[in-house]
Amino acid sequence: MVRLAGLPEDYILSQLMAFRNGQRQATIMHQITKGYSQEQLETLAKYFGSKK
Ligand code: HEM
Repeated sequence: MVRLAGLPEDYILSQLMAFRNGQRQATIMHQITKGYSQEQLETLAKYFGSKK
């Protein structure tokens, strides 16, 4: 299970962008992230990055 809570916002955003542009290999996240704009990924990173 991948845990997002506790990860910093800037790390989450960097990984979401890396999944989207193919820099980070993935089983599923490359498909999920392609469905979101950069602005939407920023919103997700801000939300999950605020969780303890
Ligand atoms: C929009 C909601 C989601 C966000 C924001 C998100 C975010 C992330 C992030 C930031 C990572 C990297 C974690 C790390 O480096 O430690 C990750 C990895 C991963 N997530 Fe997600 N995730 C989402 C939805 C999902 C869903 C729905 C699934 C499963 C159906 C999933 C499965 C995985 C898996 C398996 C990985 C490991 C990389 C891979 O093989 O794809 N995620 N996710």
